[in-house]
Amino acid sequence: MSTHPTFKYLDDALHCESVSLAALAAEFGTPLYVYSAERLRQNYQRVARVFAPLRPLICYAVKANANGALLALLRQQGAGFDIVSGGELHRVLRAGAEPARIVFAGVGKTEAELEMAVQAKVGWINVESQGELERLNAVAAHHRARPTVAIRLRPNVDAATHRHISTGSAAGKFGLPVSHALKLVAHSRALPHVHIRGAHIHIGSQLANPQATLQAIEVALDFIAQANARGAEIDTLDLGGGFPVPYRDDDPVPDLDTFAAPIVARLARSGLEHFHIEPGRAIVADTAALLTTVQYEKEDAGHRIVIVDAGMHTLLRPALYEAYHRVCAVAHHSDSPLTLADVAGPICESADFLARAHPLPPLASGDLLALLDVGAYGAAMASNYNSHPLPAEALVEGHRYRLIRRRQTYDDLIANEVIE
Ligand code: LLP
Repeated sequence: MSTHPTFKYLDDALHCESVSLAALAAEFGTPLYVYSAERLRQNYQRVARVFAPLRPLICYAVKANANGALLALLRQQGAGFDIVSGGELHRVLRAGAEPARIVFAGVGKTEAELEMAVQAKVGWINVESQGELERLNAVAAHHRARPTVAIRLRPNVDAATHRHISTGSAAGKFGLPVSHALKLVAHSRALPHVHIRGAHIHIGSQLANPQATLQAIEVALDFIAQANARGAEIDTLDLGGGFPVPYRDDDPVPDLDTFAAPIVARLARSGLEHFHIEPGRAIVADTAALLTTVQYEKEDAGHRIVIVDAGMHTLLRPALYEAYHRVCAVAHHSDSPLTLADVAGPICESADFLARAHPLPPLASGDLLALLDVGAYGAAMASNYNSHPLPAEALVEGHRYRLIRRRQTYDDLIANEVIE
């Protein structure tokens, strides 16, 4: 914990940049997501530096965190955006995104969503099935447009990651096997309103090493060579995202330079001209902490359970993927003995745990805990389950801070309901 890039103890009080987390909790209440603007910029710049030899279009994967203030900050850094829904398109346009720097991916785009994308003139549409390409052709014909398309491949490699976030294997729902993709390229000659210019791969998230990505790249390069030999005009490879981040003090995942080096080296000699990358987690994960207030503690036969005001409705990853997040006391007491405790939320589900057997100091009702590295797929996956309002979010920049999402109210919860 002492080594965390974003959250550090100053005089035994946990800080984000120069702002005390306890002060933020006192002002905005908990559960509260707190983000560091400086760390967000650093992460974007690190990705840009590591992949610079490929001069890629960096499309931040909005699904990781769609808060408009963060999107605007990334846009100022030069980011494009990887979106997967009409809602995300709406958000990035509102954040000032340049349409040409938007990639629209996703396995189930509706006609209305394709219509929106064509009208907004998004730069790329990543297509995952024959039905989708035909539908896009019809929508584009209606608007007298010819969108640029990448075909998402299912390269049949197995990413070393949690099975819920592995997307490249044969049994998955994403993309097309190479043989189908080649047939689709041939079929596209009958579809004058789409222009296939790219191949897209994304084999999973939080990849443990670059090996599976390198294998997928070989599959994609082979597909591109075969397609172009038959008259296609593919000059772009979209690598997807998936770059790993450490969640534990001793996490064995490679750092971004080590992960990317063989990928960059391979692609630099591929002869291809254009590259897209779609990093989500690597840009936002370690920018944020989730602040939560201890409510109660129970102990049964030496088993300690700390019950807090955040839970699977605020941060779903531990319940859904058994994901690990470091938990630390916002006020540090160096002489306190640490004992193992589970951290649980208020939701009426036995899966509602934020941490299991985590070393924690003695805690009293009202004490604050921080869960770290929650910037990616944290607030983005929060829900209203059990009718808890969505949490507030704050952005810190040096000594300054501001709310970037107000806490929902009870009236917000029922605002869309039609009772009579
Ligand atoms: N591109 C595509 C096509 C994707 O499906 C994803 C993530 C990304 C890019 C960004 O991947 P990243 O760089 O963030 O790893 N909710 C899960 C992660 C789901 C990832 C879904 N797709 C979690 O909390 O771990």
